[in-house]
Amino acid sequence: METTLIILKPDAVQRGLMGKVLTRFEEKGLQIVGMKLMQISPELAAKHYEAHQGKPFYNGLVGFMTSSPVVVLAVRGVGAIGVARKMMGATFGSKAEPGTIRGDFGVSNSFNLIHGSDSPEAAERELGLFFKDGEVLSYNRASDAWIYDMASGSPE
Ligand code: RTP
Ligand code: MG
Repeated sequence: METTLIILKPDAVQRGLMGKVLTRFEEKGLQIVGMKLMQISPELAAKHYEAHQGKPFYNGLVGFMTSSPVVVLAVRGVGAIGVARKMMGATFGSKAEPGTIRGDFGVSNSFNLIHGSDSPEAAERELGLFFKDGEVLSYNRASDAWIYDMASGSPE
């Protein structure tokens, strides 16, 4: 099982797309184990995007991410990091394939609706930035027995 950090970016919140995007993760069978509406501070945005510091798009990116509230999600499932990245689609809305979140809901390259951690190391770091101890929960869903094949004793 993996847990990944997803952010519904300011454009997703402002455009009323929170529910539609959340529904995609729920319908896929991924489990929402953390969720909150928050305003990202410039300091937090800088930590989150520290790998991009100095790049030409960095100031615009931090300005965008701090411009309006976001929804942060902790999303869990087998291979959740890669599954979520596939569901998001390519970084730029103009390039993202139809069927993906970015491909279906946007055309902009900078207002691209959603963030997802890109590796297990990034997921651990980013979940720690956005969620305090106790804010990411573990719970059983009645549907889990039909989302995963548990015949071998572990989810497949
Ligand atoms: P994210 O981190 O937001 O999930 O997006 P990503 O992994 O698909 O893309 P990444 O390379 O990490 O870039 C982070 C965000 O910076 C903006 N960006 N602009 N103009 C450009 O060349 C450029 N490259 C990246 C995008 O908003 C991207 O989501
Ligand atoms: Mg990234």
